[in-house]
Amino acid sequence: MLQNISKVLLSEEQVQSRVKELASQLSEEYKGKDPIFVGVLKGVVMFYADFLKNFTEECEMDFMWISSYVGTNSSGMVVRQDLSKNIEGRHVVILEDIFDTGNSLQFTYEHLLSKNPASLKICTFLDKPERRRAGITVKADYTGYVIPNEFVVGYGLDFNEHYRNLPFIGVLRPEAYQK
Ligand code: IMP
Ligand code: MG
Repeated sequence: MLQNISKVLLSEEQVQSRVKELASQLSEEYKGKDPIFVGVLKGVVMFYADFLKNFTEECEMDFMWISSYVGTNSSGMVVRQDLSKNIEGRHVVILEDIFDTGNSLQFTYEHLLSKNPASLKICTFLDKPERRRAGITVKADYTGYVIPNEFVVGYGLDFNEHYRNLPFIGVLRPEAYQK
């Protein structure tokens, strides 16, 4: 597996220290608000778990599973699994692995907004602003790292469902796409 990684973009230490910073920032901002953190599966699992372990205030967990993403290009979106909770009147924060074209976050944001939360914010671990599609109106309220326009894997992010288990963010060798 490691032989297919051409470089480490963010080391495990960089990943962990930034996650802790985000969690402490949100712990301050959401103190007493009992937020619901909505994870967008599956890519967010590593970030979600590390973030929640470092969030020091009362909160609840919920998940959405949306899909459509195939290979290295995004397309249309469908809800595969909706929330298990009623979020009406609650403070909701969407946790995402990466803000790429923006299709997923735009779709998720509008879907959750229609359920009338008291507030709705977006926290994404990675942001690739160069890839943003025209017409995307959502913005990230909290961002871990802004990264260049390269296809990355690890820390939950996959290429054809592989490499999610790497503890760092790496760039895949082009040969690995062609196999
Ligand atoms: P978007 O809808 O294009 O913003 O991208 C949403 C999803 O595409 C993310 O949640 C990821 O699952 C996937 N994705 C986007 N960029 C990458 C990447 O560089 N590596 C792995 N997955 C990616
Ligand atoms: Mg993916």
